[in-house]
Amino acid sequence: MSTNDPHPEEHADGIVEDREQAPPVYFTVLFYGLIIWAVAFMAFYLLSGWSSDAEFQEKMAAHKGESQTQQQATDSTPPATTPATPEPASAATVATEMNGQALFAKHCSGCHGAEGKGAFGPDLSGDYQYGKTEMAVQESITSGRPGNMPTFGQKLSPEEIKVLTGFILNL
Ligand code: HEC
Repeated sequence: MSTNDPHPEEHADGIVEDREQAPPVYFTVLFYGLIIWAVAFMAFYLLSGWSSDAEFQEKMAAHKGESQTQQQATDSTPPATTPATPEPASAATVATEMNGQALFAKHCSGCHGAEGKGAFGPDLSGDYQYGKTEMAVQESITSGRPGNMPTFGQKLSPEEIKVLTGFILNL
């Protein structure tokens, strides 16, 4: 810009600055106020090393204390360092594995229906084509039947087949 420029306040892009009329006071207050607030905010949360971790640890400690007192109240064994899976749970799992209803739901209900009343496979609560005896049913499960009844002899243990046989014969 040369010194003999007729409009010294005019920028190269043609925008003319109006130095007479200042921005409204509320704008100035908001503008500088927000800058100050931002700096204060950063100082407090970012630069001071503030973290919610302490709060978290505090709550965890309180929670642990609570569960430990509960544990000590119910049994006299020292509190376990890790929340070990209680032994009875795995035993219960084994028990359900050997539960005829659960076995049926897992391996058979897809074809014979949730209640064994038949779907793709025949109804198992009525008469049996291959005989409704323990022998015949075990044979059906273990070796399958020609009309699309699969073989379970490899998949299930003899105990499981026995449990299943008892279950479906009582449907
Ligand atoms: C893929 C489907 C399918 C699955 C899974 C299946 N079945 Fe079957 N099942 C059939 C069909 C189809 C028949 C009829 C076979 C025939 O008529 O030759 C049948 C027949 C039978 C029979 C003989 C019924 C009769 O009339 O004598 C028994 C018992 C039986 N299934 C039990 C079971 C058991 C227990 C299971 C689970 C371990 C099972 N099935 C899983 C399809 C299935």
